[in-house]
Amino acid sequence: MKSHTLLMPLDMHLHLRDGVMLETVAPLSSYSFSGAVIMPNLVPPVTSKEELVAYKERILNATGNRVNHEDELDFEMMDMDYFEPMMTLFYQHYPREFLEDVRDEIFAIKLYPAGITTNSEGGVSSFDLDMMRPTLEAMAALEIPLLIHGETEGFVMDREAEFMPIYGMLAKHFPNLKIVMEHITTKSAVEMLDKYPNLYATITLHHLLITLDDVAGGMLRPHLFCKPIAKRPEDREALLSAALDAHPKVMFGSDSAPHPKDKKEACGCAAGVFTAPIALQVLCELFDRHGKLENLQAFVSDNAQNIYGLCPEFKEVTLVERPFTVPSHYGTVVPMFAGETIGWSIEEVM
Ligand code: NCD
Ligand code: ZN
Repeated sequence: MKSHTLLMPLDMHLHLRDGVMLETVAPLSSYSFSGAVIMPNLVPPVTSKEELVAYKERILNATGNRVNHEDELDFEMMDMDYFEPMMTLFYQHYPREFLEDVRDEIFAIKLYPAGITTNSEGGVSSFDLDMMRPTLEAMAALEIPLLIHGETEGFVMDREAEFMPIYGMLAKHFPNLKIVMEHITTKSAVEMLDKYPNLYATITLHHLLITLDDVAGGMLRPHLFCKPIAKRPEDREALLSAALDAHPKVMFGSDSAPHPKDKKEACGCAAGVFTAPIALQVLCELFDRHGKLENLQAFVSDNAQNIYGLCPEFKEVTLVERPFTVPSHYGTVVPMFAGETIGWSIEEVM
């Protein structure tokens, strides 16, 4: 049986939510990933050090890494599969003193244009350089990366492409700021990577697999509906080439975004595809099908380590080419490929 081992997989864009949902989904990521970049779009969004630290503690608790009463990690209770939540703040125009104070607790700051996606109402309403300069200069000086949901309010298929000049402007004006184009879906975004040294990107699993046809070309499939919406075949091809060839500026970020089934199978379907429990298996299947398994390690971990200078917790995930029938639901959430059989399974995590 064909097998493949991945070392220290990282999910560089993950939604874990809070409360019961957090308890349901966090263990599904911490089982097979060494760490993940945690999105701050809670209700209300994470905008203070206190909220961020408390949220991180709830995540550690939900993944079985207990925190003792001194707020320190309890190493005796810590199991082998430690999972590092890399915390992000929701972008606002933060003063430098605040950023200095929070620096050691955060991995990055995530910027959402106002109202562009789930729980982003408090985001940025204009990309005015003068308004943003103090925050972005401080972030560059303190080496805090800026992660961006890059979409305009234009026609849905053009939103990401229309955002490219904003990425270009920010990359040019803040050359020392690391900027990550999150969950890119277009050929035009892939092309930006070679134009600006300080621009990087994450790519999801689902955008490597689907186009708009899969979402709405036949019967409407709400569990494939997400922001940014899946695009054209040539866009998917460009994303696939970048991932399969292990483009050094591209990292895996699942954008696994759980919503309860009744919010997805609804009139007014919530945006988000839930892929956390099947991501590594399906990536193996996809890279193997293209004869590129040897490049998967770079896509799911090494590129992120190089880009950010990370040293993740050791974790070794062995996958095998054995069929796995994806559960119809995890708690209230329906995963991608629910009820279908995928080609690869996780054999062992060490
Ligand atoms: C995400 C969510 O549900 O939080 N939804 C999505 O469609 N990707 C938010 C986001 O990343 O846009
Ligand atoms: Zn997201």
